[in-house]
Amino acid sequence: MIELKNIDVTFQNKTQTVQAVKDVSLVVDQGDIYGIVGYSGAGKSTLVRTINLLQRPTSGEVIVHGQRLVDLPPKELRASRKKIGMIFQHFNLMRSRTVAGNVAYPLRKSGLTKQEINQKVDELLELVGLADKKNTFPSQLSGGQKQRVAIARALANDPEVLLCDEATSALDPKTTNSILELLKDLNKKLNLTIVIITHEMQVVKEICNKVAVMENGEVVEKGDLVSIFTAPKNQLTKEFINTATHIDQALDKLAKHPTLLQLSKNDVLANITYVGESTSSPLIATLYAQFGVVTNILYGNVEILQETPIGNLIVVLSGEPAQREKAIAYLESNDVTVKLLDHNQKVVAFNKEKVV
Ligand SMILES: Nc1ncnc2c1ncn2[C@@H]1O[C@H](COP(=O)(O)OP(=O)(O)OP(=O)(O)O)[C@@H](O)[C@H]1O
Ligand SMILES: [Mg+2]
Repeated sequence: MIELKNIDVTFQNKTQTVQAVKDVSLVVDQGDIYGIVGYSGAGKSTLVRTINLLQRPTSGEVIVHGQRLVDLPPKELRASRKKIGMIFQHFNLMRSRTVAGNVAYPLRKSGLTKQEINQKVDELLELVGLADKKNTFPSQLSGGQKQRVAIARALANDPEVLLCDEATSALDPKTTNSILELLKDLNKKLNLTIVIITHEMQVVKEICNKVAVMENGEVVEKGDLVSIFTAPKNQLTKEFINTATHIDQALDKLAKHPTLLQLSKNDVLANITYVGESTSSPLIATLYAQFGVVTNILYGNVEILQETPIGNLIVVLSGEPAQREKAIAYLESNDVTVKLLDHNQKVVAFNKEKVV
């Protein structure tokens, strides 16, 4: 549906050249909710703006619905752009117009009668849950409501794609969730393809089915959500995932509060992860029954991503070294990933102190 091929975007200032996007190729399929994550300056906005040619790529191809956008004459490009809506962090509403006026704005040259426009506006406001705010001015709305107006406006021309540039970054967590729910809803109801830029993995986790991670203009890793979450390869991806699973914070806390960890020399600290239905308790019972290894759960987190449960635990495994090894092998043979946490410097330092 959207194909970006070897996209480069270079900005030439007086003093320097900035390569904002470097050789990025991505495919977004119809019905995808595609997340693009990265820190500030990674090139996310620049990349996404190439999808509707708000930003022309320096080189590379943008193909939407089989059309090469850079080749289109201006009139056709305008028509094609109408099929791509966009929303932003700061909503970009017109202050002097009412909610209805804002939503109707993109329809002013549509050829629809006043009455038809009015009806369309009503439908759109109904869709985003703001039917009662029709004649209100933006200044009288909360951030979440403003974003709903912006979404209604972006949908006025019945686009097939919605680009969201940090659409929830100015909102509190609860409002963020309600906007994400709305986007998920629109994706299903209208079969709307959504590309969502964010620096929060939490947002990706909530609604995306695919994700690309950007750093210094490049896509360093991309794929479907569950594989990226369960088997990230790139260091930056791992960092982002940790922010969503809170494993790093949990480890930090453990390192800072040694009393939480009463490690003896028969204890090891481990991070165990599993995907799918395999619940942890029968495995843990087996570790004790078969190998005499006791599992003490210090931290646990279960996510449901795309209907798939993903478990992430920090545990202390206690038992004779040979038995522990067997227990770990047993876990691994049951598709549980076991990572011993001796690599974590803070924990290792503390560990040694305790053991000696
Ligand atoms: N019009 C421009 N002229 C010159 N440099 C630009 C321009 N737009 C973006 N850049 C530079 O390109 C790089 C990528 O910027 P971009 O806005 O795409 O990043 P981003 O990932 O969206 O960041 P943020 O999370 O802060 O929005 C940055 O170094 C930025 O300074
Ligand atoms: Mg940006």
